[in-house]
Amino acid sequence: MANLIDGKKISAEVKEKVRLETASLVEKHGIQPGLAVVIVGNDPASRVYVNNKKKACEAVGFRSWEYALPEDTTQAELLELVETLNAEKNVNGILVQLPVPAQIDDKAIINAISPAKDVDAFHPENVGQIMIGDYKFLPCTPAGVMELIDSTGIEVSGKKCVVIGRSNIVGKPMAMLLLHRSGTVTICHSRTVDLPSVTKEADILVAAVGKANFVTGDMVKEGAVVIDVGMNRLENGKLCGDVNFAEVEPKASWITPVPGGVGPMTIAMLMRNTLTAAKSQNGIQD
Ligand code: GUN
Repeated sequence: MANLIDGKKISAEVKEKVRLETASLVEKHGIQPGLAVVIVGNDPASRVYVNNKKKACEAVGFRSWEYALPEDTTQAELLELVETLNAEKNVNGILVQLPVPAQIDDKAIINAISPAKDVDAFHPENVGQIMIGDYKFLPCTPAGVMELIDSTGIEVSGKKCVVIGRSNIVGKPMAMLLLHRSGTVTICHSRTVDLPSVTKEADILVAAVGKANFVTGDMVKEGAVVIDVGMNRLENGKLCGDVNFAEVEPKASWITPVPGGVGPMTIAMLMRNTLTAAKSQNGIQD
């Protein structure tokens, strides 16, 4: 039987640290970190995420601004807003919630966000910094996963790590962070031949596929650490991960639940990145 990795508890601890540091930043330097969140259109899942981000800002003592733009917003209009936010001194972090409607090229928007305010770490400059291991921000979800792995006390160094999924937001940076910790990393994807034979080798298995119950018991090695990045909404409205929990839990040594695993960590890391951005923009060292 696996130990559960409690993402809610660990994220609360991270946010509490951010809250205390924020209070001291306000008191000593008169600087209150601020995050601008932009949402375009009416995607219900995005609306939930944005509301949670705003709530988290309040809880840690940040200023936050929400820009809710209509579904038919043009790329030029969104770029103009990003430029305004880039120039606004009180805005330390800018997050444009993805996906954006089809008439907008998300790459153009990501490229327009000032790298210093890019708290998602999606800008090519930040992606490059991560690649060479010399970064200011880490993308929130992979950074949250690393915190969860660290909470188990298990060393990544020398372990076989398998990441399922190769997205720019999760799979690729996740693999890079595990590599920075000296894991032996394999990235699997839809063209991987005989996926179970690869995943069964993993000491640390990270599932970021976007398919409910994709990872079954036969795909997991006895004693593996299993991290489930999936957040799939089932027809009955329930949230379900990429991992078939009932089958995998008895084999794993550690496993994240869904909900209550990786999800809460993403927001905690966003808070940490926004604090880092505020300090760095104001020339404040730790
Ligand atoms: N949509 C889903 N996850 C994310 C995220 O981490 N950042 C942004 N900006 N959009 C998202």
